[in-house]
Amino acid sequence: MAQINAKFVTSNTDFKNCPPARFPEFAFIGRSNVGKSSLINSLTFHKGLAKTSQTPGKTQLINHFIIDEKWYLVDLPGYGFAKVSKEKRKEFEKMIFDYLIHRENLTCLFVLVDIRLKPQAVDIEFMSRMVEDEIPFYIVFTKADKLSQKQVNESVDVYKNFLLEMWDELPPLFITSAEKHVGREEILKSIDELIQTSPYRIGK
Ligand code: GTP
Ligand code: MG
Repeated sequence: MAQINAKFVTSNTDFKNCPPARFPEFAFIGRSNVGKSSLINSLTFHKGLAKTSQTPGKTQLINHFIIDEKWYLVDLPGYGFAKVSKEKRKEFEKMIFDYLIHRENLTCLFVLVDIRLKPQAVDIEFMSRMVEDEIPFYIVFTKADKLSQKQVNESVDVYKNFLLEMWDELPPLFITSAEKHVGREEILKSIDELIQTSPYRIGK
């Protein structure tokens, strides 16, 4: 297994203060508690890199990490978090969408969904907005260790069929477990492939 060098860079509320757009960037998003920070720790094999919590709403900032001195990994706050005030939620949403729309080096967004749940309105709305805004994204199913292989397959099929009712084609899909480090290599490989063609790749 390749060693990964991962370092925390900064936390921001405003995309304008994010580090200079010098590298290809990959961000992780999804509902609160879906397992974004855990997946980031699994990907990088750094247990405490991104802060995780059993309480939803742990990540509240745009967190940049630099990986192998060649790409940025971004941990974003969850969307659809019901337990904060309406104003706070609006503020979060603005912060996230401003970042997604304006961050020029954002190469691909990984949208995480809990494999145990049927397609949820909040996720579908979010993905539809990404399609509308032409922000490229991949879908990542999390917490696969909580289901049997058969249930995993069923869940993914239900999701695929649901999306195919709306769209002609599907984005790449990944099945992961941060707990068991499942799906890690596949995600890293896809990132590596995207880096190769990115105008932000160093040495280009
Ligand atoms: P916010 O930052 O609050 O939006 O949450 P998050 O999406 O970053 O989730 P986080 O990684 O903090 O994980 C939430 C909870 O889910 C924690 O209790 C994790 O231990 C648990 N969890 C995350 N990934 C997995 C997984 O692959 N398997 C299992 N069994 N639990 C997981
Ligand atoms: Mg988090």
